[in-house]
Amino acid sequence: WGRRWCTRGFSFFSNYRKLNIMNILLIGSGGREHAIAWKISKSSMIKKLIVCPGNAGTELVAQNIELDINDFNKIKLLCIEEEIDIVIVGPEDPLVNGISDYFEVQKELKGITLIGPCKKAAQLEGSKDFAKEFMKKYNIPTAKHKTFDINSIESGFKFLENLSPPYVLKADGLAAGKGVLILDKLTEAKKCLKEMILENKFGNASEKVVIEEFLEGMELSVFVLTDGSTYKILPTAKDYKRIGEKDTGLNTGGMGAVSPATFIDRFYLEKIEMEIVKPTIEGLKKENINYLGFIFFGLIDVAGEPKVIEYNVRMGDPESEVVFPRIKSDLLNLLVGIKNGTFSEKDLHIDKRVAVTVMLASHGYPEKYEKNKLIDLPEDFNESLIFHSGTKSRSSNFYTNGGRVMCVTSLSESLKQALEKSLKVCSKINFDGKYYRKDIGRDLINY
Ligand code: AMP
Ligand code: GLY
Repeated sequence: WGRRWCTRGFSFFSNYRKLNIMNILLIGSGGREHAIAWKISKSSMIKKLIVCPGNAGTELVAQNIELDINDFNKIKLLCIEEEIDIVIVGPEDPLVNGISDYFEVQKELKGITLIGPCKKAAQLEGSKDFAKEFMKKYNIPTAKHKTFDINSIESGFKFLENLSPPYVLKADGLAAGKGVLILDKLTEAKKCLKEMILENKFGNASEKVVIEEFLEGMELSVFVLTDGSTYKILPTAKDYKRIGEKDTGLNTGGMGAVSPATFIDRFYLEKIEMEIVKPTIEGLKKENINYLGFIFFGLIDVAGEPKVIEYNVRMGDPESEVVFPRIKSDLLNLLVGIKNGTFSEKDLHIDKRVAVTVMLASHGYPEKYEKNKLIDLPEDFNESLIFHSGTKSRSSNFYTNGGRVMCVTSLSESLKQALEKSLKVCSKINFDGKYYRKDIGRDLINY
């Protein structure tokens, strides 16, 4: 195998113009992966697309293979057997666990390009403390902060006393999106700090806690795709994280999204590029990190000044479900550019229309919910796109298999129309316990 990969050499690369030449493995199983799989499946370069493990939606555009996404040995065997050219890693977990570093050292996998950063760079998402130190080092605007652990709880209390409410406490490590607490009372904040550090409120993830100043403003998501030396800015988005309308109730993985973030203009995006995107890419280079893949900048606009709330080393979900439908260029062609060193020469064309996606969730989500409900889909989606999140198929039927079940994306000249189109389709999809927000993007309609 090793020889075969090595001897493909230059003649293989020079043949990229030929169509249907790429075998792709996409890792993950959410709406983000369905959106990526849908986009890749439309490429003229695709020969075989495998999603591992995928969902009932990815099965419509690719072949699903059930595999533990953190079992790198099994992924390696699959890559060899299926003659994979490019691996795209959807979620952060395998990246934080070092899948990229694993591929790097396996000689049988030498010819494969893995889209996703190395373990060290994945710390930008895997450790809030690492991300904060990186931002400090490279002068990237973010909230003022300090990190505390078991040896410095008392200093943590003092730090809290000198902040004004609300208090923001973040578990350092990955905590399934639940590790951020925003508290109004000092006593409560001190109690939570203690619980996080001493009682493992979020397991090992809260052995260290980042306390930071609360920032007030509109949030937006900016995404780039990079080959480690140049980058392309993908469409921007705004995510609606709360379960209830008008942004009330518990935080979720995301109940809907809009692209672009219509409240910022070209000049503001340039400011973000100059103050945040460029210094991040340059910083990674200075750290000797060859970052291949997506970077997700979770930003907040504080009175005209963009600040980083968080980095993610992957695409967002449900942002992907509005970002990829707006990319007119062939996504696989861009990834092939990363593989063969021609990324900077590739164009990125973006649809000017607005995209809105509305997530259908299971009753009870983000807390307890039931699965295995039969999903009834309309025959006609009115040109909208349906991306599956937590679904599975059985005997030609779809069943719910998660808290976030599927989302409906629509594109239109106006945000209002796109929302109306999506809501119409949402009303026609049925399953027991269906819930969705009807106000996704409504706050932006007048921008
Ligand atoms: P994170 O996991 O860091 O994205 O935080 C989750 C959510 O908490 C963010 O999307 C924000 O809504 C909120 N948040 C995090 N940090 C801050 C902050 N410093 N000020 C205000 N809100 C924050
Ligand atoms: N929608 C937020 C995220 O993907 O982290």
